[in-house]
Amino acid sequence: MALYSTTTLQERYHKAILDWQRRHFPELNLLQDNWDKYFKGTQPFQLVAKVGNNVSDTIEVGQYQGRPKFSRASEMRGNMFYQARNIIRAQASTELGSIQQHRMSLEQSLGDESKYCVLRVMAEELRHAYQMFWVLDDDATWRSAGHTDVAEETIDELLGMETGEHVLDAFNIRFGTFVDNAMFTMVIDLVGKHQLAMQRVFSYAPMARSMPPMFLEEGFHLGTGRRLIKEICLRGSRGEGDWSVQDVQRTLNQWLPRGVEMFGNEDAGQTNITFGFKDKSNGAALTEYLAEVQGVLDDINAALVQTRAPGLPRDEAVAAARGTIARGDPAHGLGRDDLLRLPSKRFFRRRGPEDVMLQPYDLDGELLTEGGKPVAPDVYLRYLATQLPAHYLQDADFLQYADKLRNHEPAAAWY
Ligand SMILES: [Fe+2]
Ligand SMILES: [Fe+2]
Repeated sequence: MALYSTTTLQERYHKAILDWQRRHFPELNLLQDNWDKYFKGTQPFQLVAKVGNNVSDTIEVGQYQGRPKFSRASEMRGNMFYQARNIIRAQASTELGSIQQHRMSLEQSLGDESKYCVLRVMAEELRHAYQMFWVLDDDATWRSAGHTDVAEETIDELLGMETGEHVLDAFNIRFGTFVDNAMFTMVIDLVGKHQLAMQRVFSYAPMARSMPPMFLEEGFHLGTGRRLIKEICLRGSRGEGDWSVQDVQRTLNQWLPRGVEMFGNEDAGQTNITFGFKDKSNGAALTEYLAEVQGVLDDINAALVQTRAPGLPRDEAVAAARGTIARGDPAHGLGRDDLLRLPSKRFFRRRGPEDVMLQPYDLDGELLTEGGKPVAPDVYLRYLATQLPAHYLQDADFLQYADKLRNHEPAAAWY
């Protein structure tokens, strides 16, 4: 049996998404015209929904475990119905939002090959949005189960969202340089991969059947990000190109905290398991995610060390880089600032448990203090300015964070 079958939206929504594409992603035609030049041997892009075939018919986790999966939205009661809708809406918003973001700095790409890889990522994100629309469109009970036509309301709202209006913070940050395109696919698409993996169990069948084809496509996105960030770092370490390893580090510092927060509060997340929407808690998924990012950084650092010590085995290069990051002693002439390190999950947080949210933690996860108390907001903002890309400090997203920090009541535990 084929892995999936394909289908399309009803004409009204198919046209609406094509309309959106013409306004926000006109470069799609360029990609389609040049597909064979860059991606020969892979199936050309098609704007369709892919419905996975090898998906369990039985609910795998939570309070309905063992029962048949829900095939109609109307079978989900109360909170469950709206929680499912919120997940579908947030997912679609990430897909459309990321296209709008990638476009902002696409022209700074390392060259045509990297530009076409990002264009392919954008096209596949468009298909993922299409897929989420299909979930809402294919099941007539999204139209009648609520008081309003939930499908139409949600799709219309999504097609009208601009950068700054999307559901999740990471999709409201404007890209400033091509390092953003690359870093975003490396760390934010990786969150997407973890979410799609967890949602394979989704107790609402159309959503579960949407996950495997999307998951397969994410592999290309992550691979593109990792390859481009490595390339940018290697060029930077040779003094070539527009960006240094430190520029890449600052870009990582900007994106990683938003990726961390996409998992939701790390002390919560049981409801999604109870409803059978995901098979892991937020905290468990976050731990796995951070370990995977660390692995990606190890790989890039090993390549950086190997430029100074050709022939050094990879595991020794990883160990040398880790030692330098932990203790500061140079490895083969490279210091801490010549390598990439994983920011602490407590760094630059605006959501999550009280003890990290809007608290002045540094990159290594140490609380910055003055006279035994956490430093004042403006002191922390000055610290952040040394750790984040200069252009991002002017972004509406950062200015909002600064406002929130200045107006935040300190958590009682600190005083
Ligand atoms: Fe996607
Ligand atoms: Fe993606």
